[in-house]
Amino acid sequence: MTDSTAREIAPASGKLGLLMPGMGAVASTLIAGVMHARNTGEDPIGSVSQMAHIRLGKREEGRNPRINEFVPLADLDDIVFGGWDPLSPNMLEAARTAGVMTPEDLAPLSGELEGVVAMDAVFDQRWVSRITGVRVKEQTNKMDQAQALMEDIERFRVENECDRLVMVWCASTEAYQEPSAVHASIESFEQGLRDSDDNIAPSQIYAYAAIMNGVPFANGAPNLTLDLPCIVELAEREGVPICGKDFKTGQTLMKTLISPGLKSRMLGVRGWYSTNILGNRDGEVLDAPENFMTKESSKLGVLDTILQPEVYPNLYGDIEHKVRIDYYPPRGDDKEGWDNIDIFGWLGYPMQIKINFLCRDSILAAPIVLDLALFMDLASRAGESGVQEWLSFYFKAPQAGPAGPEHDIFIQQTKLKNTLREWMGEQPVTHSEAG
Ligand SMILES: NC(=O)c1ccc[n+]([C@@H]2O[C@H](COP(=O)([O-])OP(=O)(O)OC[C@H]3O[C@@H](n4cnc5c(N)ncnc54)[C@H](O)[C@@H]3O)[C@@H](O)[C@H]2O)c1
Repeated sequence: MTDSTAREIAPASGKLGLLMPGMGAVASTLIAGVMHARNTGEDPIGSVSQMAHIRLGKREEGRNPRINEFVPLADLDDIVFGGWDPLSPNMLEAARTAGVMTPEDLAPLSGELEGVVAMDAVFDQRWVSRITGVRVKEQTNKMDQAQALMEDIERFRVENECDRLVMVWCASTEAYQEPSAVHASIESFEQGLRDSDDNIAPSQIYAYAAIMNGVPFANGAPNLTLDLPCIVELAEREGVPICGKDFKTGQTLMKTLISPGLKSRMLGVRGWYSTNILGNRDGEVLDAPENFMTKESSKLGVLDTILQPEVYPNLYGDIEHKVRIDYYPPRGDDKEGWDNIDIFGWLGYPMQIKINFLCRDSILAAPIVLDLALFMDLASRAGESGVQEWLSFYFKAPQAGPAGPEHDIFIQQTKLKNTLREWMGEQPVTHSEAG
């Protein structure tokens, strides 16, 4: 039953601009996929916002609409694409370089893709040593760079007649960093921008520009970017939703599917060894140790939170967890991952699980970008600001409040759907006999 506590959500009328810093493999695959779905009417497979149904009320009520029929999301036809890149001139070139889609699949979209032209990036090789930027903004002062991005955003808004904008970071993983004094408050960060403080990475300049222009920001890479007191404070002050970090695809997706299952049956885990080979530009960037360290720290947190070693020390208190990524060019975007999981059961007898996942990185990431863009736009229209924990479902290292992140994908899914139910004035589904 619907109650009167539904949020007031502004309608999704007019155009939604999706801006992506980083227009490489993931961004071009997303854009091509949306264009393909629009032109052919085929299903955007993997997109929860477009394909998943949501149960409302008790099971016997039989109410089970698709999510995009239940909540007011922007229509795929109303999305306009844009972004920044220091290398890709336009999305046709980016898609060709990425090699995710075949030339035959790209051919009918080539004109449309070529029309999505990347703007010059705020880029600094100190943060991504394997890339030499050629389409880079001329400003050197970091506050001037932020200003230039804000002007880009406004120009894009006007030229494309957008009613609303969202930004999703799809750029390379930046070198590892810890938060520092410059990130402590909005004031120190703004002073740091004026002083071009070395600790401010390009992704933080994009985040600042987006939030100052009222544009929701989701972070698809493992960089700190939004996980900083100054940025969280800014998002709350400006009334802008943010979420991150690091799209949950591939091996980590498998990890968050398998480990809750093992735990649900109280099977112990002694070790989890994950290795994968990847030959795209992302793999090349991650081949630099300082960039891999950023990725590693986002991948390692998952098991501890799901398995709760502090609650189950005998089952999960002594896990050897290793993660490796090797850059191996012949594979391109077709990643191959191997997991060896040493588990134990009744009487402590050991067993092993082997997973060999031949996945396609950008094919798994593209629908996540679409969902995040649509849900962040919804959150904004629903009056949300600050960290959107209900979107943890999509991230390897979800940004969360003081209670810490939730990694179990099934709990994350429940949280996402119950949030939508709550906003629309529906009861949460508890799956108890009564609910
Ligand atoms: N594909 C996945 O499954 C997946 C999963 C999780 C996270 N990610 C992350 O998503 C990001 C994109 O992945 P990808 O496969 O598209 O990589 P990619 O290398 O194909 O594309 C990244 C693009 O970002 C650009 N770039 C670098 N610094 C920039 C800056 N300062 N401003 C604007 N653009 C900049 C690069 O020139 C490149 O074109 C990476 O950080 C990756 O780690 C991807």
